[in-house]
Amino acid sequence: MRLLVINGSPHAAEGNTAALTAELVKPWREAGDEVVERYVARMDVRPCVARALCLAGEPCPIKDDVAALHAEMRAADALVLAGPVYVFSVTAQLKAFLDRSMALLHRPEMTGKHAVAVATSAGMGEQETARYLATCCEMLGYDLVGELAGVFMVYSRPNDGEALFAKARRLGEELVLAAREKRKYPKLGLHAAQHRFLRDLIQRNRKLFKGDHAYWQERGWLETRWPPKGDY
Ligand SMILES: Cc1cc2nc3c(=O)[nH]c(=O)nc-3n(C[C@H](O)[C@H](O)[C@H](O)COP(=O)(O)O)c2cc1C
Repeated sequence: MRLLVINGSPHAAEGNTAALTAELVKPWREAGDEVVERYVARMDVRPCVARALCLAGEPCPIKDDVAALHAEMRAADALVLAGPVYVFSVTAQLKAFLDRSMALLHRPEMTGKHAVAVATSAGMGEQETARYLATCCEMLGYDLVGELAGVFMVYSRPNDGEALFAKARRLGEELVLAAREKRKYPKLGLHAAQHRFLRDLIQRNRKLFKGDHAYWQERGWLETRWPPKGDY
């Protein structure tokens, strides 16, 4: 099995977020499975230019590393979506990647896979940012195993020391079991509201959102309220 870690920190493997995710992925490695780490700030990930071709089901005109990263998400069994808090939210680099993933967020392909969201900060905004990343995971179709928010006021040392790392390991152990046993996790309430929002948006803009409309229609989701039909 393969776990993909997408980390939005410019500190990449040397950062606080990487230190925390390293603990989280230990059980995955110990189980003998593969871990692939990607640092979007070290990749060619350019911002969305809003041509909306992806919504129509056409390829993005920007040729950079985003399509390859999406292919890696499809090829992996699980995802850790992680990043530091920058001004109460994710880094610009991670946000650019998420913006460029809009079609995927509209068409939740990652069903049957599992995800964990991670955010680190110096003391403000980590819960909200972890929640935001967790919501993105659910919108992508992942079963959300959990979210982890950590405070590192001193560089590379979490405020609550070992307790945070121990929590990360426990969550990592659950991620291994969730993936092996194909566990299902209930979607959060916010997700139902987003489903209704997307359904209405896609129905009202069916010409512009041609690709989304076809995807939702095929699955019978345009007629359903929450929860939709099928494995989502
Ligand atoms: C531009 C910038 C903005 C930041 N904004 C916040 C913030 O709003 N709240 C906070 O608690 N920490 C903030 N921080 C601190 C980082 O979130 C924190 O040091 C984080 O653990 C860094 O993780 P990394 O080493 O993986 O990049 C900011 C840091 C930078 C460089």
